[in-house]
Amino acid sequence: MTKASLTIDPAFAIADVDPRLFGSFVEHLGRCVYTGIYEPGHPAADENGFRRDVLDLVRELGVTVVRYPGGNFVSGYRWEDGVGPDRPTRLDSAWRSIEPNTFGLGEFIKWTRAAGVEPMMAVNLGTRGVQEAIDLLEYANHPSGTHWSDLRRKHGDAEPYDIRLWCLGNEMDGPWQLGHKTADEYGRLAAETARAMRMIDRRLELVACGSSGATMPTFGTWEATVLKHAYDVVDYVSLHAYYEPIDGDVATFLASGDRMEAFIADTVATCDHMRAVTRSTKRINLSFDEWNVWYMRKFQAQESTLEWRHAPPLLEDHYDVTDAVVVGSLLIALLRHADRVRVACQAQLVNVIAPIFAEPGGPAWRQTIFHPFAQASRYGRGRVLRVEPQTPVYECAAGEVGLLHATAVQAEDGTVTLFAVNRSQTDALELAANVRALGDGVRVLEHTVLTDEDLGARNSAAEPDRVRPRPVTGTGIDTGTLHASLPPVSWNVIRLGR
Ligand code: AHR
Repeated sequence: MTKASLTIDPAFAIADVDPRLFGSFVEHLGRCVYTGIYEPGHPAADENGFRRDVLDLVRELGVTVVRYPGGNFVSGYRWEDGVGPDRPTRLDSAWRSIEPNTFGLGEFIKWTRAAGVEPMMAVNLGTRGVQEAIDLLEYANHPSGTHWSDLRRKHGDAEPYDIRLWCLGNEMDGPWQLGHKTADEYGRLAAETARAMRMIDRRLELVACGSSGATMPTFGTWEATVLKHAYDVVDYVSLHAYYEPIDGDVATFLASGDRMEAFIADTVATCDHMRAVTRSTKRINLSFDEWNVWYMRKFQAQESTLEWRHAPPLLEDHYDVTDAVVVGSLLIALLRHADRVRVACQAQLVNVIAPIFAEPGGPAWRQTIFHPFAQASRYGRGRVLRVEPQTPVYECAAGEVGLLHATAVQAEDGTVTLFAVNRSQTDALELAANVRALGDGVRVLEHTVLTDEDLGARNSAAEPDRVRPRPVTGTGIDTGTLHASLPPVSWNVIRLGR
């Protein structure tokens, strides 16, 4: 029998979770916007062309903030193309797509209001610069009486959009990015843009581009150089990370959460080092504004054959049970670092490496990875408690990895939710958790498990609920110890309360 243990004690808290940890991302990429969130003429479309079936799923998913409009797309984007009555059709070279610009800033803001989410906007620092960024900000946030704000009003939006959270470009360290820069070039531009934007609107929260992956050759020095220029004028550094099984190595894939935690810890160390170097009193936090499972190699193999098309089916991964368990583990990793990761966006929301899949003219459904996100967003609000599992380990390309990956969150009403992943591919994990500190009378309200005998099982239009969390029995508390059996390759949510 494989055993693991841990202690849940409200005296050991990491931080209050910022609800923005449950963010998502909508890019003009493939079918994320067109035939994803927006499809005029679809039977479920509202008067704005927004798919109501997708909106319902977005609300159920529990998304709090949505980053827009890219991604690689933003580095060649002219935001003016997407406002007002004249919408030019352009080539989007990032994704070799035809962009009609029928969906732009005003439509996005309207959509965020319908979805009940906060907008997070990126400015183009690839092919454009300070002036275009402040024009956009004036259009979006200034009340009236100036060229850009009055233009917004003329376009039908009398009230400012009041967008607080802004990304200063996207992945500017990546050679694939239009207008990509050295760390010094980008650091200076980010600082200049941030200063200019703050002169227009003092309430902004600004995100500087960090590395577009922990394996980027400049990771660490990039962040340090950017912060040397911009420390005092930005609030967050971004992190991006995608995970996939390489050459069928599922053991390492299941360890993705540990790799994410190491990426976070290294970035925090650089930020704190630069705090000392710049003698600043302020702390830079992290915006993990792109993360997910992405079968990137599959896409790279097709990339050279792409033809110019409008809304081509790009990056449409269909996720299985193992993918969902890994996404659960990535959510655990984010929660375990909630003291510094204050914003996080799963990339992306619909169709493109996404928890929601929507057929053009057809139905929309929950992919397997929808479920861990929805449960984490629902039960992961409150205070994260420090949980350090005693667990058997295994060796893989990621090093020595615990079979059990876990965290716990205490909600305002006192309810505690334990999120736990068993990474063993063969054995159930018998968990014994010391819950004495939760006091007398605490009981198991619910234990749900997402797993399947067929780890390759997926959801589809024909079987939209093939994979979902299912309640299990047999989990209970005996004299201050919670006993639960966690099946192999499983995502578990155990709620404790009175
Ligand atoms: O999310 C897909 C792409 O991944 C984004 O456009 C880019 O920022 C990242 O490389």
